[in-house]
Amino acid sequence: VGALGDAAAAKGRYFGTAVAANHLGEAAYASTLDAQFDSVTPENEMKWDAVESNRNSFNFTAADQIVSHAQSKGMKVRGHTLVWHSQLPGWVSGLSATDLRSAMINHITQVMTHYKGKIHSWDVVNEAFQDGSSGARRSSPFQDKLGNGFIEEAFRTARTVDADAKLCYNDYNTDGQNAKSNAVYDMVKDFKQRGVPIDCVGFQSHFNSNSPVPSDFQANLQRFADLGVDVQITELDIEGSGSAQAANYTKVVNACLAVTRCKGMTVWGITDKYSWRSSGTPLLFDGDYNKKPAYDAVLAAL
Ligand code: XIL
Repeated sequence: VGALGDAAAAKGRYFGTAVAANHLGEAAYASTLDAQFDSVTPENEMKWDAVESNRNSFNFTAADQIVSHAQSKGMKVRGHTLVWHSQLPGWVSGLSATDLRSAMINHITQVMTHYKGKIHSWDVVNEAFQDGSSGARRSSPFQDKLGNGFIEEAFRTARTVDADAKLCYNDYNTDGQNAKSNAVYDMVKDFKQRGVPIDCVGFQSHFNSNSPVPSDFQANLQRFADLGVDVQITELDIEGSGSAQAANYTKVVNACLAVTRCKGMTVWGITDKYSWRSSGTPLLFDGDYNKKPAYDAVLAAL
């Protein structure tokens, strides 16, 4: 493991990155990964369309490459993601409610069984709530056919398959206190009260000028932690450059370190060159794998 991972570990946290299997053969990509991080999240390779593009026919080749690489370097792996409305193959949305329920249970069971013992935290359900002021669930095949209960059913299934992995609910625009994060908060509170197995909440933390680092980020992480779940920053990237970007990264690291139950942070990619924000520069390394001021700020804050 590497510099950011070691610094985080000294504070009892992990510091990870999203990884794409098709870049692992690029020497500078792999060497930067290996020199810096102690946790990886497959950026796309564990998503439903990647592992089960046809019903009950599973292909783990690309995800396995990432997991093998991580294990050979002593890095941990986050599983992302089991139930999500996006990157979902067409056959899933065509199913009847009864079939959809069994397909969801089968998907969770097969994927988690394949990776049993190798994943520290799973994003069991991703992005199930709407943006905006309603606090409502997002329309999806799962929501529309199975109702609110699909989330609980997914978590209960996940626990029966792998009792050791931490089971997370993951979302974006939930980083500060707002209608959407309030709705997630109410769900987690209800799950804890009724004994539905949930261990952690992931905060994606994709920040830009429209969605800056909230001033109440730490307070929001803390209120979730106070419900009795761990919190993790799961997909961090922050638009910008130079000292302004660095200062925003410092805020995020400080917020996590100030919350005892904030167990780790993951940036959503290694280099700006391969960021999903194609025209942006939101990560810690520039396109030539040079450390940016944001990198120095993170290492100094850890
Ligand atoms: C993104 C990947 O980074 C892209 O490569 C892909 O084309 C789309 O998905 N929220 C999530 C992640 O939970 O899975 C998304 O990842 C970014 C937003």
